[in-house]
Amino acid sequence: MWPKTDLLDLLGIDHPIVQAPMAGSTTPALVGAVSNAGGLGSLGCARQTPDGLRAINADIRKATNRPFNLNFFAHEEPNLDPAAAEEMRERLAPYYKELGIGEVPQATVPYAGFDDAILETMLDLRPPVISFHFGLPDDAAVQALKEAGVILIASATTVAEAKLLESSGMDAIIAQGYEAGGHRGTFAGPMETGTVSTFPLVPQVVDAVDVPVIAAGGIADGRGIAAALALGASGVQMGTAFLTCPEASVHAVWQKQILEGQAEDTMVTALSSGRPARLVRNRLYNELADLEHDAPPFPVHYSLVAPLRTAGGSQDTPDFQAMYAGQAMAMNRAMPAAELIETLVAETRDVLSKL
Ligand SMILES: Cc1cc2nc3c(=O)[nH]c(=O)nc-3n(C[C@H](O)[C@H](O)[C@H](O)COP(=O)(O)O)c2cc1C
Repeated sequence: MWPKTDLLDLLGIDHPIVQAPMAGSTTPALVGAVSNAGGLGSLGCARQTPDGLRAINADIRKATNRPFNLNFFAHEEPNLDPAAAEEMRERLAPYYKELGIGEVPQATVPYAGFDDAILETMLDLRPPVISFHFGLPDDAAVQALKEAGVILIASATTVAEAKLLESSGMDAIIAQGYEAGGHRGTFAGPMETGTVSTFPLVPQVVDAVDVPVIAAGGIADGRGIAAALALGASGVQMGTAFLTCPEASVHAVWQKQILEGQAEDTMVTALSSGRPARLVRNRLYNELADLEHDAPPFPVHYSLVAPLRTAGGSQDTPDFQAMYAGQAMAMNRAMPAAELIETLVAETRDVLSKL
């Protein structure tokens, strides 16, 4: 039934639906359920240690013997300047007081990007697929992974980024439109360049590269999948749609905001981590809006707000959490992941047959 099979052949999957890697929200159970249902399950591995990665890899391999994807952030090491974080610390202090969680911590670099220890672990574990967000690790790392037989995918938010990724050896490219939930993948130009929507971005990326293109951003049901295929994509990557599956690790308050929210309830802000990301608008990000351009660099800013996010979750309030979600969130359905894949495939078949 699928108009193009290049992505299916490349990945060895039945349906061209990639469940997006979402660090902190994806679980081995979710990945296993999606991959067993014929899609590509993905786990967001940012913030994981080599030992954590070994455990995740083992759990996924217990859950499925189908292909799956491990995903990493490939950001540059940030400049840590504690003095520059002082104004932000002062502005955050009243919220720490309100939640009763002590002092705002000193700024740190809370986790590394795709470093040598992670590379060695991946060369040892050899997951079927690895995907990257925020650019790529160095050429030697890309080459080593390719030689190890791992299929490599990465996100582009502009045509220029897509061409760069193709020339760096990516086997497929995710075209991430501005509607997408979570962090913008923009890496080869100013953040303002990475604001093209899925509809104009996908066909232009398809025209610019020869590898399969995976459309991402604002796709919630069979209509969105059929539209992405009509634009020339070989498949889709959907994140927000899976946040209300029982296998996902997502706070109940966050799930409620998604299911009861509207498209206009999301915003893009750098104030959750230091890097622009789309999330559900809430009190913290509204009240700090004037500091939008003063956040310490990614992921240093995360070290200042992480305790606030955790405490907000423990106290069941949406006010301080980072509830990442895309513009199609109100179309979410709360159902098990395998049922969601089955529903999406049936809906797409129905839409395509009626066109
Ligand atoms: C909660 C959440 C977390 C995300 N985390 C990651 C991540 O760790 N790595 C990544 O490559 N993309 C991440 N993304 C972005 C997705 O890969 C994808 O671009 C996006 O979900 C597509 O838009 P949609 O949410 O409208 O489906 C995240 C998205 C969400 C909603």
